Parts: sequence; structure tokens; C-alpha cells
Amino acid sequence: EEDVPHVFVVMGASGDLAKKKIYPTLWWIFRDRLLPENTIFVGYARSNLTISDLREKCTPFVVAKPEEQERLEQFWNINYYVKGSYDARRDFELLNQEMTKLGGNKANRIFYLALPPSVFEPVTSNIRACCMAGNGAWTRVIIEKPFGRDAASSEKLSRHLAGLFKEEELYRIDHYLGKEMVQNLMALRFGNRIFGPTWNRDNIASVFISFKEPFGTQGRGGYFDDFGIIRDVMQNHLLQILCLVSMERPSSTSADDIRDEKVKVLKSIASIDLPDVVLGQYVAADDAQPNTDAALGYLDDPTVPAGSNTPTYAMAVLRIHNERWEGVPFILRCGKALNERKAEVRVQYRDVSGDIFKGQSKRNELVVRVQPGEAIYCKVNNKTPGMSFGIEETELDLTYNSRYSHAKLPDAYERLILDVFCGSQMHFVRTDELAEAWRIFTPLLHKIDEGGVQPIPYKYGSRGPERADQMLAENNFKYYGSY
Ligand code: BG6
Repeated sequence: EEDVPHVFVVMGASGDLAKKKIYPTLWWIFRDRLLPENTIFVGYARSNLTISDLREKCTPFVVAKPEEQERLEQFWNINYYVKGSYDARRDFELLNQEMTKLGGNKANRIFYLALPPSVFEPVTSNIRACCMAGNGAWTRVIIEKPFGRDAASSEKLSRHLAGLFKEEELYRIDHYLGKEMVQNLMALRFGNRIFGPTWNRDNIASVFISFKEPFGTQGRGGYFDDFGIIRDVMQNHLLQILCLVSMERPSSTSADDIRDEKVKVLKSIASIDLPDVVLGQYVAADDAQPNTDAALGYLDDPTVPAGSNTPTYAMAVLRIHNERWEGVPFILRCGKALNERKAEVRVQYRDVSGDIFKGQSKRNELVVRVQPGEAIYCKVNNKTPGMSFGIEETELDLTYNSRYSHAKLPDAYERLILDVFCGSQMHFVRTDELAEAWRIFTPLLHKIDEGGVQPIPYKYGSRGPERADQMLAENNFKYYGSY
């Protein structure tokens, strides 16, 4: 088993995702000797490239320390490149021959589709027709979003894939599922007695799941405009976090038991519509220096169509109609060009009943900070130390860089790619899960696409539209800090 060769194919090897994310990740896991022996990498794209061209493209991103230079040479020595188009069967036959020549006829095969969605269908058909592993070896296909743009188009893609591959062969990436603190949610909830009994509508007032980025679309506006922030971040990354916070305890940590519970909770969420959201679009900051990112509003990006109503910010309130969560708002928020980079979950508890501390008790809050600076902290009321008998709010604090200062937290892609080698689908999105995720957002997305909805302008570098604070207040989230 140890010696079974593996061929890892990067489809779209000359593209942005490949050079910025996939090759660096392959380098790190190769460098750290996490891959099976006898693994080789094959890049595939339309450009006429040599390995040294590819290496050069990747140079700013595939970085080695002086003492790692020899290892880096070894890495590039097991890289190959095949030129071909995405729709010509003949080219895939050649790819297959190359793979057999390089890896032998018993190698397991992984295909990473770092490609625009327009070629997902022909490429997967061609892989199925020409490039499947033989002789008892397995084939696995990794795909990246977008998985369609609404319920119907996603279902069409899912049906296409289901006609070609078994569910166990499909690895749909949501890279948030590869993040330390997202993976930690299950440990926190199900490995501790302390949270379980209070994890319900009797004790929790609201849950706020937030993603903020301090930069705009930065020339990626053309791509972004087709999708908007809801498809880009909310429907996948934030909704996955919501599932992990709200699902029932799975009967085991097996991939299917976990995904069964996610699907179950998703099915209990009503589809959302315009009254459930605040949408925003950023404009230039008032005080921006000329020629900086902040001086460009979304519509000033030359790759964005004039007058686009695509939201770059969204807050949405989701309601889970089940016994545990009825009446507890789950507030999702995501936005570009905001005041800071931060992703976190805030589980806000109800007020204490009969507060004997003159109404000074603040609500408990359990905060899971996904990034930057992984942390879990719990806001508690504590007696002010010393003579006074007053209380004040403080934190039980598990900040990772002090508690686990020596732990190296791998990048999300490192974990996820290794999971594919190991055949673990625990952190990947199953077909039925994806369908439910689209069901929730499709009615709203259609209304936005029809053009009748105007997002609220907000300044680059601000906290987003003020209307959103009102929405938090209306949904039983008490605002103590600046979120
Ligand atoms: C991607 C989105 O999925 O996630 C990007 O397409 C976003 O728009 C990115 O910037 C955020 O990922 P991370 O890991 O930097 O939080």
C-alpha cells in the first residue's frame, strides 16, 4: 500500500488559482514530507509551457528558505506539464498516456480542477472518458466553486457529475472547512459537557457569523460581478459555519454522519427573501489618497459593468425551524472593503434572569475567532477585583498564539488536499448539502439578478451600511463592542 504511486493533475496549471494557491500548497506538503512516496504532479493547460516556465510563474508564491533549496529542486523534479485544450478528447488521451508513462498503470489519480466553471462539464466528461485510473487504483476529482449560480444551474452540474463519478470520487472544496477554528467547532460543541446543555433557544439569544475583508475586488471585479458577495462567501463559507454551529450531534465523526446532520439542519432553514437582508456596495473613501485601492469604489473598477447592482456586502437573517433553534436568529454578515479583516462566530446568550447586580450583568458571549489570530473566548461577568462588590465584564480567553505558541496551523488547502489523498470527505461538501444551500438563497438571488434591488452605498474602509446595525438590534443581538 505504502508504495502505490499517485499522480496529481492540476487542470488549469497556468491560471491564477494554480500559481497562487495550488502549487504553493503542493510544495508545502511535499516539503514537509506529508505526501505518499512516489507522488508526481502533472500540470495541464492550454498554454505552451515548459516546466521552467511554470516554475517561473510560480516563483513569487512557491518560496523556499535557503536551507530548503535542495528540497525545492526535488519538488520541481517531480513536476511535469502537458499542454492541451479542455474540450478535445484527443488531448485527454494524450494526457492519459503521459500519466501512464510517468506514474505507471497502477497509480491512483487526483484531478484538481483549477478552472473557470464554463469548462467544468467538458473537462469532467473527458476525464471520465480517457483518464480514469485502472487496475484497482482510484480516481478522485477536486472541484472549486462556483458550483452553478442558483438552484437550477447547480442541480444541472450535480447531475452531470453524478452521471460520471460516484459521490466518493467527488471532492467539492469549501476552503473554510479546512480552517483550524472551523474544524474546532465540532470539538468544542461535542467534546465538552459545558456547552451542550445550554446550546439551544432557552439560553441563546442570537448567533452572529461574520466575515470582513479590508480590500475591494482589486481588478477581480469582472469575475466577482457575475456572482456577488452572497454567492462568493455567504452561501458557502458562512453557511457551512452555520451548519457546524447548529447541527445536531452526528452519531460519529464519519463523513456521512456529519454531512447527514448538516443536510438535516439545512432542510429546517426557510429560504430567505429581501426583507431578511441588508445589501451594500462600496464607494470610494472620503479621505482616500489618490491611486490607492480606497480611492476606487466598486463601480470605479474598470472590470465591473457600469451601474452594476451587485452587492459587495450582505447581512442576512436565517431562521432554523426546529425544536432547538425556533426563534433564534442566525445572522450572517460578509463584506468587502470594510474596516478590518476578521472572521468570527458570536454566540450570544440571553440576559440573566433577575439580575441582582443593578442591571449591570452583560450577556455572555462565546466568541470563536476564525481569523486572524485564532481564539476562543467567553465573555463573562466577574467581580471587580478588590474592595468593590461591583461586577464587570471580562473574558475567559483561549488565544492560540499564547496557549499553543508552538503549534503550526496548516493552511486550509494543505489539510484539504491531504484529505483527498487519504480519502476523507469529512471536510467536503456533499451533493445534497449543496442543493439545500442553493435552495435557501435562490429566491433572493433571483430578485437581485432581475435588477430591481439597489444596494446601499457604504464607504470603503467603513463598517458597512448603518442599516445593518439596526438589523442586529432587531434580531436580539445586543451590541457591546464594534463588530
Ligand atoms: C474566497 C472568495 O472563497 O474566499 C474570496 O472567493 C475571498 O472573495 C476568500 O476573499 C477569503 O478567504 P480567506 O481564506 O482569505 O478568508
